[in-house]
Amino acid sequence: MPPNFVSGGKNAAESGSPAVAGSFISKKEEENPMAKRIASKQPSGVSAQPRIHQRAGAIQEYGTVTHALPLLLEEPIRLEMTEKLNQMLADTITLRDLYKKSHWQVAGPTFYQLHLLFDKHFGEQSELVDTIAERIQLLGGISIAMSHDVAELTQIERPPKGREEVPVQLSRLLDAHQIIIGQSRELAERADKLGDDGTNDLAVSDVLRTNELQAWFVSEHLVNMPLVEAIQTSAAAD
Ligand SMILES: [Fe+2]
Repeated sequence: MPPNFVSGGKNAAESGSPAVAGSFISKKEEENPMAKRIASKQPSGVSAQPRIHQRAGAIQEYGTVTHALPLLLEEPIRLEMTEKLNQMLADTITLRDLYKKSHWQVAGPTFYQLHLLFDKHFGEQSELVDTIAERIQLLGGISIAMSHDVAELTQIERPPKGREEVPVQLSRLLDAHQIIIGQSRELAERADKLGDDGTNDLAVSDVLRTNELQAWFVSEHLVNMPLVEAIQTSAAAD
C-alpha cells in the first residue's frame, strides 16, 4: 500500500497546483497514535519533498542598477554604462551565435579551415559574452541573457535560417564585427570621460582588440587570390 501524500498547501487540491509542502504519512502511522505523535514532532514545513514549480516577482527590474555599491561610481554613471554594455552584450551574443551557425553550415573547398576558424572565434566571443555580462552585474545592473530578449535588442541583421555561400557568411561576420568595433570605441571614450576605468579597459583590451583581430582573420578570406596559377606572371618577369 503506497503512503498517502498530504499537501501542505491549503487549497492545493482545489487550485490543481502540485502539492509542494507536503509530507508522507504511512497507513501504519495513521492507525498508530504513537507513530502519529512522533511524526507530528517534525517542525512544520520540513520535508524531503523538493519545492518545485515556484514563481515569484523579479528582485530587480531590467534597466535598473542597485542604489549603492562600494565602487566610487555614482548611480547615473553605472546606469549609462550598463545600458551601453547591454547593447554590446546583445550584439556579442548574436555574433557568437553567427559564428556557430557559420561553423555548422560552411561548405566548399575551404570547409575544414573555416570550420575550425569559426569555432575558435565562437569560443573567444563566448568569453567576451561572460566578461561583458559580469561587468554589467558588478556595476549593479542586469545583464540581458535570453535569446528572445537578445533578438529584440541586437543591431546585427538577422540571417536566414538556411545555408548561405561562404562569401556571404564572411561578409555577415565582418558586418557584425564592424558594429561591435564602433560600439567599443564609443563606449571606451564615454567610459573614460565618466571615470569608469574598468569599463574603458574592457571595451579596449577585451572587446575592441578581439574583434579587430578576428575581423582581420575573416577579411583575408575575402581577398580574390588564385589558388594554383599566379595571374601577375608577366609583370613579375619584367
Ligand atoms: Fe563543432
